[in-house]
Amino acid sequence: MTEAVLGIIGGSGVYDIPGLENPRWLPIESPWGQPSDAILFAEFQGLKLRFLPRHGRGHRLAPNELNFRANIDVLKRAGVTDLISISAVGSLREHLAPGTFVLPDQYIDRTHARPASFFGGGIVGHVGFAEPVSARLRALVAKAAGEAGVALSDGGTLVVIEGPQFSTRAESEMYRTLKADIIGMTAMPEAKLAREAELPYATVAMVTDYDAWHPHHEAVDVQAVVATLHANRDKAQALVSAIARGFPRQVEDDPARTALDHAFMTAPEARP
Ligand code: ADE
Repeated sequence: MTEAVLGIIGGSGVYDIPGLENPRWLPIESPWGQPSDAILFAEFQGLKLRFLPRHGRGHRLAPNELNFRANIDVLKRAGVTDLISISAVGSLREHLAPGTFVLPDQYIDRTHARPASFFGGGIVGHVGFAEPVSARLRALVAKAAGEAGVALSDGGTLVVIEGPQFSTRAESEMYRTLKADIIGMTAMPEAKLAREAELPYATVAMVTDYDAWHPHHEAVDVQAVVATLHANRDKAQALVSAIARGFPRQVEDDPARTALDHAFMTAPEARP
């Protein structure tokens, strides 16, 4: 049996949870360049936790400036076996009001200027990605939300845009016709790289605004996003605590852990 290590990528604040033991920030180097920050190593009731502030402490990095490959790589090097990402998103559906937490089960990738694979440079590999979210992690998060009293909408499609600008109204309306439910800027290529790194992955999406499509709400601005984010912080912390409390202490089977078994096109003898 291997010990589970839960990685959490999220905004600042989610790692200020009561009961966190022995917290220490450790910088980890990656051949893929600079990650967003050092990793906060800690324990919680015997569970090993590793936090990475996605935008760096103090929110220094825009979504389009993140080195997603380095971030996933350093989490893997830190021993992470399961990865939960926490992201602010806009809502493309009336019933997903600001303040709602959503657990998407599908993504649409509309980013276009981010290195999105560890493969290349002589090695060709294609991982399966039809089911981008770990069903096991989703179930764990949904159960934890129930225990923490955090209302959570389970399932839905998250469209990820390049940013850093928000969408036009026409784009926002188009994403609704594509059947997307929420819109963000960070889950891609994070989820793709997590799959290539054989890390089970799930996103907890916190709705901060109605994006640009809603006829009765102002188009989104940063003040609105930040205000709702602050209001959500206690809920996010309660959710992270509940996830950590209920998280299995030993690694469990997950299809993502064998994603590379049938991914390589390049023959072993031809790989550098
Ligand atoms: N993050 C928070 N709100 C967003 C929105 N409306 N679009 C993209 N990313 C977001």
